Amino acid sequence: MRILSGIQPSNKIHIGNYFGAIKQFLDLQNQGEALYFIADHHALNTVREGARLDQLSTDIALDFLALGLDPDRCALFRQSDIPEVTELFWYLLTLTPMGLLEKAVSYKDKVARGFAPEAGLFTYPVLMAADILLYGSDLVPVGKDQVQHLEITRDIAIKFNLQFVPKYDPAQPDGDKKGRGKGILRLPRPLVQESTAVVPGTDNQKMSKSYGNVIEVFSDDGAVKKQIMGLKTDSASVDDPKLPEATPLLPLLRLFATAEEIAEHEASFARGGLGYGHYKARLLELFHGHFDEARARRADLAKNRDHVEQVLTRGADKARAIAAPVIDQVRRAVGTRGRGRPVAP
Ligand code: ADP
Ligand code: TRP
Repeated sequence: MRILSGIQPSNKIHIGNYFGAIKQFLDLQNQGEALYFIADHHALNTVREGARLDQLSTDIALDFLALGLDPDRCALFRQSDIPEVTELFWYLLTLTPMGLLEKAVSYKDKVARGFAPEAGLFTYPVLMAADILLYGSDLVPVGKDQVQHLEITRDIAIKFNLQFVPKYDPAQPDGDKKGRGKGILRLPRPLVQESTAVVPGTDNQKMSKSYGNVIEVFSDDGAVKKQIMGLKTDSASVDDPKLPEATPLLPLLRLFATAEEIAEHEASFARGGLGYGHYKARLLELFHGHFDEARARRADLAKNRDHVEQVLTRGADKARAIAAPVIDQVRRAVGTRGRGRPVAP
């Protein structure tokens, strides 16, 4: 089974990214052939400063390695190291109906939030389809917000196969003895972690880089303390009973603490007698208990950026080797030669 996912290097990672996505990637690296990439081409839709994008991309690689991604088990690479992705992107674009992209909610949302309506943003789901289809991916772990992109990916793959594979039948995508053709592009499935509810941010809205309400996994001790101590609360005094919905404290504690401990916090919220500062201090302690090992590892890894570059180069070679037979078939089908960079032996 081939597992693939990507993360945009658009900012530093926060605990919502970790519990909502990265943790799942780490668990899955033991369950199949996993490919994880840093989606720097996607991030160009928002990061428009070369040195910063380059830095953020290396930073995310460091984050993944520090959090336990094992480069011997999976391929970790930069999207931009794989020229075949942009080539496939074009082939797919030529047969993507405008109407399919016009339905995509992420574009409409972003434009509604003030992003410029640019073609890169509009065609982003097709680049994502190329990312997925190039490696014959079976399973794509993503957040709920990405599920529509997986549907678009399947639609585009079916359209391509119907166009270029004789007697292709989407109901039998692997072909059969009756002469139905096997799809060149494999149809992927999304894997959505239902159990991790949306992690709330310090202001009790969804935690997101773009809302400035994050608790970062790898910022320095002082900054983490500031983020946690600044969590939203109401004006209940120490003795007052506290409303769970007045603050993101309980759902955040739930990410780290045992069920028994959570039950105690819920009871003392209802009873009153402990100030919010008490819970914040406990959350800070749990955060450090959970992440300090990774934080120390990251500090070490950061001293040896060459190592990170080597990991990414090796990852790109692995990924290109997996992509080679797929892009080869695609080129034959569409009638191009695609003399790209040769794949490393
Ligand atoms: P952001 O909203 O901070 O820009 P991204 O859109 O880059 O985050 O998301 C990267 C991954 O992290 C996605 O799989 C997304 O579903 C997950 N993720 C982001 N924020 C949260 C959150 N608050 N709770 C759970 N998962 C999240
Ligand atoms: N669009 C994804 C996000 O914003 C990142 C991404 C790009 C991705 N290409 C992908 C995820 C391919 C999974 C598979 O989170």
